[in-house]
Amino acid sequence: MRDMTTQATICAQVLAWYDKHARDLPWRVPPARSKSGQRPDPYHVWLSEVMLQQTTVAAVGRYFRLFTSRWPDVHALAHAEDGEVMAAWAGLGYYARARNLLACARVVSHDFGGVFPQTRQDLQALPGIGPYTSAAIAAIAFGQAETVVDGNVERVMARLFAVNEPLPGVKPRLRELADALTPNRRAGDYAQGLMDIGATICTPRRPVCALCPLMGECRAYAQDLASELPRRVAKTPKPVRFGVAYVVRRNDGALLLERRPNKGLLGGMLGWPGSDWSAEPTEAPPLGADWQVLGDEVRHTFTHFHLRLTVKIASVGPEALPVLGEFLDKGAFSPGDLPTVMRKVHDLACLEPALSRP
Ligand code: ADE
Repeated sequence: MRDMTTQATICAQVLAWYDKHARDLPWRVPPARSKSGQRPDPYHVWLSEVMLQQTTVAAVGRYFRLFTSRWPDVHALAHAEDGEVMAAWAGLGYYARARNLLACARVVSHDFGGVFPQTRQDLQALPGIGPYTSAAIAAIAFGQAETVVDGNVERVMARLFAVNEPLPGVKPRLRELADALTPNRRAGDYAQGLMDIGATICTPRRPVCALCPLMGECRAYAQDLASELPRRVAKTPKPVRFGVAYVVRRNDGALLLERRPNKGLLGGMLGWPGSDWSAEPTEAPPLGADWQVLGDEVRHTFTHFHLRLTVKIASVGPEALPVLGEFLDKGAFSPGDLPTVMRKVHDLACLEPALSRP
């Protein structure tokens, strides 16, 4: 590890940069105010950090505003209905996060009187809060000297210290390096400064080293290696799975939808009845009908596989009795309540003249 002077220099440079260039994000207290001791609302920090797990800052802003205007505090969110929250989350992906979000809001509201615990350990005991999120909340909302390590920070560390070993094996080493730098003072601003530098300057492909406050300290820059680090072991390509989605419209405009089981992919979300998703899916139509197969398929990529869905559509009369799912009246359904893959199916099926006819 470098000496204390270098550590102090790095922290001072990150903080000075953050004071000037911090991104203006709706859950933040800007540096001018945080320097004088003002802290952001822990509810806002928690909500934003859960939303930001595996999602970009650009995508989260709109959802954050929607959630905080609809549920202004943790008690309000705790009292929301599951379906409402799942619908508001639609499009953010990783739906287990939304279920954990609600579970966490209910614990904080009922068991903690609406007050978030302040230490990393106590935060980590709450649903959906892992090592990253607990450190981020403890540092940003409560000023604790915790080390916050996300993908951006890993990249900054790998470059700053010219770490040549590949991800993911080198993660513990990158965490140690980050740990040794974490300051006691302004830990939240420092953490957010590092993340902002990673997101806006020390970017994965073409880092803008000329603008970086850490250029003078950066070993990868000195060795002209910045854009090559961090290294990664070659990824195995994602497998392709196939499936069939069935879109049934009743002649009064109601659509046949199914609430997916809480456990598993897209758990708790609304969707179209369908087959399994596998190399060779088994057809599972929800009712007997004159199915029409759409010419285009829906493609969607999940974390571990690519999915290609054949879409089959049918129009039925009032007597239709599905073995799966429930008809939702036109007024009770909005495509925006669906997770992205299911919305793609909706959009494809509703462009189909046979089904979109009133
Ligand atoms: N990514 C996740 N949390 C963040 C934060 N608080 N600031 C900047 N980027 C982030």
